[in-house]
Amino acid sequence: MERLQKLIAKTGVASRRKAEELILAGKVKVNGVVVKELGSKAQITDEIEVNGKKVLVQERVYFVLYKPSGFISTTDDQFNRDAVVDLIHEQETVFPVGRLDYDTSGLLIMTNDGDFANMLMHPRYKIEKEYYVKISGLLRKESSYKLAKGLTVGEEKYQPAKVKDVKYDDKKENTYLHIIITEGKYHEVKNMFQALGHEVLKLKRIRYGSITLDGLFEGQYRALKPHEIKTLYNLANNK
Ligand code: URA
Repeated sequence: MERLQKLIAKTGVASRRKAEELILAGKVKVNGVVVKELGSKAQITDEIEVNGKKVLVQERVYFVLYKPSGFISTTDDQFNRDAVVDLIHEQETVFPVGRLDYDTSGLLIMTNDGDFANMLMHPRYKIEKEYYVKISGLLRKESSYKLAKGLTVGEEKYQPAKVKDVKYDDKKENTYLHIIITEGKYHEVKNMFQALGHEVLKLKRIRYGSITLDGLFEGQYRALKPHEIKTLYNLANNK
């Protein structure tokens, strides 16, 4: 048994505080009976109605997905392209934490826990995201320094980014490298390299905080282990 407002918050229809207001206002029914007391408890199997509509309580779930390129991270695509949510075959409806571009592959955390997602995405927490990148041209040391200082592109000011494991393909004039960023602005990696005169030819996210793609093939996902979820919480809260 759990407090009714907590269960309602788990359905995603209202925050816990809003759920308390709804209960007090007599807008919540449990098994057909209006419940107005804030201390009331209920369980997942009870039939809960909010504002006359049945709601479904979902357990919080957390997955790590290896997104293949050629999938979009949103569900409302005007071109009807394949979406990452279609790769997750679970009872619960999950959404990605942040976005990867259609042509970017790699690690996406998928969850139905909005608070957790917001925490991870908040720029204040500076969670590291590491990408494996192939760019056109040979990256100059100077450009790495610029990235490390924090690049400004037009109106956009990007936080410092670390470049490592740089490998040059002198014949084809390409560079392979890892870049670590702590924010997740739209087209961040592509925009920064473009500003430095390089085209991003391949982009794959290989790490999100403490979570890596280890053990996953493209298109596969797995549940995060409780200690992995806890570590992400701790990373965000600097513990
Ligand atoms: N930066 C980009 O430019 N694209 C992504 O998909 C992720 C980071």
